Amino acid sequence: MSDAFFAPAGPLRGEVTAPADKSISHRAALFGAMSAGETRISDYLHAQDTASTLHAVRALGAQVDVLGSGEVVIGGVGLSGAREAGAAIDVGNAGTLMRLLPGWLAAQEGRVFELDGDASIRRRPVDRIAEPLARMGAVIEPTDGRYPPFVVRGRALTAISYALPVASAQVKSCVLLAGLSAQGTTTVTEPAPSRDHTERMLAGAGVAVAHRGADVSLARVEALQAQGLRVPGDPSSAAFVIAAAVLVPGSRVLVRDVGVNWTRIGFLRILERMGGVVVGSLEDVPADGAPIATSEPASDLDVTASALRGTTVEAAEVPLAIDELPLVALLGCFAEGETVVRGAQELRVKESDRIAGVVDGLRGLGADIEATPDGFVVAAGGKLRGGCIDARGDHRMAMLGAVAGLASCEGVRVIGMEAAAVSYPGFEEDLARLG
Ligand code: S3P
Repeated sequence: MSDAFFAPAGPLRGEVTAPADKSISHRAALFGAMSAGETRISDYLHAQDTASTLHAVRALGAQVDVLGSGEVVIGGVGLSGAREAGAAIDVGNAGTLMRLLPGWLAAQEGRVFELDGDASIRRRPVDRIAEPLARMGAVIEPTDGRYPPFVVRGRALTAISYALPVASAQVKSCVLLAGLSAQGTTTVTEPAPSRDHTERMLAGAGVAVAHRGADVSLARVEALQAQGLRVPGDPSSAAFVIAAAVLVPGSRVLVRDVGVNWTRIGFLRILERMGGVVVGSLEDVPADGAPIATSEPASDLDVTASALRGTTVEAAEVPLAIDELPLVALLGCFAEGETVVRGAQELRVKESDRIAGVVDGLRGLGADIEATPDGFVVAAGGKLRGGCIDARGDHRMAMLGAVAGLASCEGVRVIGMEAAAVSYPGFEEDLARLG
């Protein structure tokens, strides 16, 4: 494990380009493999998590070429053409891969697949996908009924209407991918909107995806043909740079090419409410009944250090900012007034228990923060002493510690900084360049 020390920083200045979006990269590789023919993906994220997806689709028979430019070209095997991998497919640390891939595999009639991953993956629930896939006719066998490793036995699938018990883009996507091969019309109902990259990519590939209120529906298709895909910058990765620029006094940073799909920018809306100054062209929430967008908007974001006030994040906002909520806790440490996050119990089943990790970690740095069963409460702050924080093998916790260090009085040592490479391999270099 590698430790890294982040000293209190002087004003951050200059510009960085956000690394490519992890969620969209996973989907692009899967769509390429599920397509008949060739899919070219430009600006694919080359990080640990998305390397796992390229390995997985290769093991299933897809041809994957990574060009010198970083462009990825995938020769797909088609919707029903995944071959048995011969060994367990290793999803590494990637929850999105673990929960989306079975949607495709469930429809491979008569074929059997096993999925496994690292120690963190083995603690993450898959019953949430096993249940709807079993209702569609597949056989899914999780360990202890709930966890990886697990077996997927492909079957002829029948469409279902499924009300998601949790607002999860991963589960929604899994059911929709299975729906592409299921007899009838598959409908997923969300308790609250979650990221819609799968729907956009399907619509872009010519699939008739309908969105009405909280329902997303599609019917079986004969074949999928992903178009050339371009991956914008990841708003969740950019959020760490944005938070650093907001918190370190005197900073002014331009973050280039950030994805601003409205289902991903909940953090920017929360930050704005807290008084953070971020200027860019954000996508508006579409009118109900508007057709599903077929592209992913991006914008440069101009960030200025700002004085912050506390805020309350309610359950409906949580899915649109889920991966950035640890940063909301950090911002709260510097805000005037209390910061509260509610309805975020899903944080407990991320790459680590992010409620326990954030609360223990920030407390260790001097913060006045309490855990609740579904979130946390940060008392009015102003500054953070600093100290040592354990990333617990979680990329976002490692980057949280780094940003805390730059904004702290004494600096922060992060134990396990290498975890950042899961989603943002150049993170330390980008921070150093701005400092
Ligand atoms: C993701 C959805 C979210 C998010 C994860 C990526 C996706 O998970 O936390 O990092 O790509 O669909 P849930 O679907 O479990 O909320």
